[in-house]
Formats: sequence, structure tokens, C-alpha cells
Amino acid sequence: MSNDVMIYANDLSKTFGAFRALDKINFEVKRGEIVGFLGPNGAGKSTTMRILTCFISPTGGFARVNGHDVFDAPLKVRESLGYLPQRAPLYLEMSVLEYLRFAADLRHIDDSTFRKRAKNVVEVCGLAQVLGKEIRHLSHGYRQRVGLAQALIHDPPILILDEPTSDLDPNEKAEFLDYLKQIGEERTVLLSTHNLAEVETSCARAIIVSSGRIVADGPLDEIRAKSGRVRYVISVQESAGSRPYRGRGAPPKKGEVEDALGKVEGVKKLGELPTDESAHTFELVSEQEHDLRPDLFQLAADKGWVLLELRRDTQTLEDVFRNLTIGDERRNRQLSPVAPEDEDEDDEDDDDEGEAVGSASSDAEEKVAKADRS
Ligand SMILES: Nc1ncnc2c1ncn2[C@@H]1O[C@H](COP(=O)(O)OP(=O)(O)OP(=O)(O)O)[C@@H](O)[C@H]1O
Ligand SMILES: [Mg+2]
Repeated sequence: MSNDVMIYANDLSKTFGAFRALDKINFEVKRGEIVGFLGPNGAGKSTTMRILTCFISPTGGFARVNGHDVFDAPLKVRESLGYLPQRAPLYLEMSVLEYLRFAADLRHIDDSTFRKRAKNVVEVCGLAQVLGKEIRHLSHGYRQRVGLAQALIHDPPILILDEPTSDLDPNEKAEFLDYLKQIGEERTVLLSTHNLAEVETSCARAIIVSSGRIVADGPLDEIRAKSGRVRYVISVQESAGSRPYRGRGAPPKKGEVEDALGKVEGVKKLGELPTDESAHTFELVSEQEHDLRPDLFQLAADKGWVLLELRRDTQTLEDVFRNLTIGDERRNRQLSPVAPEDEDEDDEDDDDEGEAVGSASSDAEEKVAKADRS
């Protein structure tokens, strides 16, 4: 493993009772990379991050952070990183300043370094107006800023941020992403988020997890090209309203346009998009290597149709994300029998709602039945 590998996961697995939350995931993150860690709800993002930050241990495989094993050298690992958990645990009775000082004390930061670092994180996280306020009186977004500030206070080389922007307002989000770009030049950042636009602006690389497995890992361009499909939108005039129709003959009927488009070589899928009565608009999908636009243009010209729009969209990260993770969503919407599960013993924050559909629902049924009887 080269010195430049700051985060290394090897066959990392985690089971909670009978449930496999992570299934042999492998990845590495190099110095200076900002990597987007994506996946639908329940995919295993937070579980991975909690292992990397030594909050829970893996049940298989191993992980190294800054060259230190999370199991053998957890203190070294913790020294190397700043971690913002999805729900940052904060001491609500402390003021923001007290909390930051407390976080700095835990990190053995001396007073003058604290003052310098605090100035910096207060600026970055926009906390100047609330420094003296008790955390319990802060809004959700501000609490998240405080969590972020504690992750940055010791100026760590590695940042592991679990949905850091989910509660920030749009201005703060944009500022945070700008900041991330700046700090990412010398740091390593693993950033989980559901906001794909955020990944597009701040990360050059993404890892997509689904059902505890990595389904894509690479530069965003490569991931976008992964599906190999391209979408076209073509719109031809159906009626010119009160103005004279400029096409040849009468405006085409929907069926005629649909038939002709379906016969164009390379069209894999064809569907109508909603429009008003002035146009027929269709969406076509084809393989990436074959550009359909010349053929579509030629077809419209041969038929004498009035072409209103012809557009080619390469796949967005969002399309690819949906294609790769759609299985998770389908499973979420089907009630299938699920084996009852044991609770995980080393779980310290008990956020185990979610996966035990079968046991949770039978539990609920039992409770309803009991209430009925009483
Ligand atoms: N302590 C636990 N005990 C039992 N199951 C757990 C526990 N922690 C997580 N899980 C389960 O492991 C799976 C992965 O959870 P995880 O929190 O890593 O998902 P995630 O990708 O972070 O999702 P989200 O986007 O909703 O935050 C889920 O099915 C979750 O219910
Ligand atoms: Mg999570």
C-alpha cells in the first residue's frame, strides 16, 4: 500500500445479527482526493464511515486510515481524522464556544493554537453570531455547523463527513462546498451525500454503494458513461394553431411519428413525453456509440415534418445512480418475508430501524392486537 493511500478498505464486511449491511467492500482513497460516497438509504454508507472512524468494528476484512489499522491503532486513526456523523452528538448544555474548546481539549490542542483554529472554523462554518449560545437553543442547521466545526478544529489530514450539508440552507451549502474544494487540495475527504449535484461540483471521483456492495467506483466521467446509453428528445409540430403550417402536406398524426421513429436504426426504447396539442414529443434511448441525430434529422426532412426540437442528453450522474441502485428501491417497496434478526451487540446508538421489516411489522401487529384485546 503506497503512502499516498489515506483510506484503505479491504473486503470490509459488517453484519448486524443475520443482516449483512456491508458485503466485502474494497476501495482506497488517496491523499488530496475528495470522494463522493453515494448510495440510497440503507446502502451502508454510514456503517462504512463508522467503521473507518472506529465507532464500530467490522465483522470481516480490515481498514486502514492514514496507514493505521482501525482495529489495532484506533487512537492513531482518530488523531488523523475529523468526523462528522450523520447525527452529530453534541452536548446541548454547552455553548458553541465551550463545545469547541472541549473538542480542542480532547485533541490536546494548546490555547494559542485553539484561538487560531477556532477563528478559522468559526469563519468557515458561519458560527460568529452564535458562539455564546447554548447548543440546545440552536436550529438544526446550526447544530450541523457546530458538528462540522468540531470535525475541523484540529486541522486533520482526513475528513469523513456523513451528509454534512443535509440541514444547511442553500447559501451555506454553496459556501461549504467552496470551502471543501479549497481544503481538499491538501486533505483527503470522504463525503457522503444524497445530493448528486453536490458531488458534481465538489468531487472528481465517486463511489456508489447499493445493498452493502460497491456498484461503481471511479472518476465521475467514467461513472456517467457506465450505462452506455444516450437519451434523445425529438419534438415535431402537430399543429400550427392559427398560423399556416410550414411542413409538407398535413401535420403528422402521433401514430405516424411513433412508427417512423421506432424504425430508426439503433433505437432501443421509445416513449411519448407529455406536451400540449402543438407538438408530438418523444424520448428515445440508444446505445452510446451510435449518434442518432443525423438519422432523426433526415427522417424529419424526408417526411416534411416541422422539427421543433432535437436534443441529445448523455446520462447524468443521477440517471446512472438510479440505474445502479434501483434494485434497493424495489426491495423497499415489496413486503417479503424477512427472517427475524438479532440485535447487534456492539451497537452504541441503536439506530437500527429500517431493515427488520418482517420482525418490525409482526411486532407492530402484536402490539395492535394487544391494544385491541385490552
Ligand atoms: N446498529 C445497527 N443494528 C442493526 N442494523 C443496522 C445498524 N446500523 C445500521 N444498520 C442497517 O444497516 C444498513 C445500512 O445502514 P447505513 O446506516 O449504513 O445506511 P446508509 O447508506 O448510511 O443510509 P442513509 O442514506 O439512510 O443514511 C441498513 O439496513 C441499516 O438499517
Ligand atoms: Mg447514513
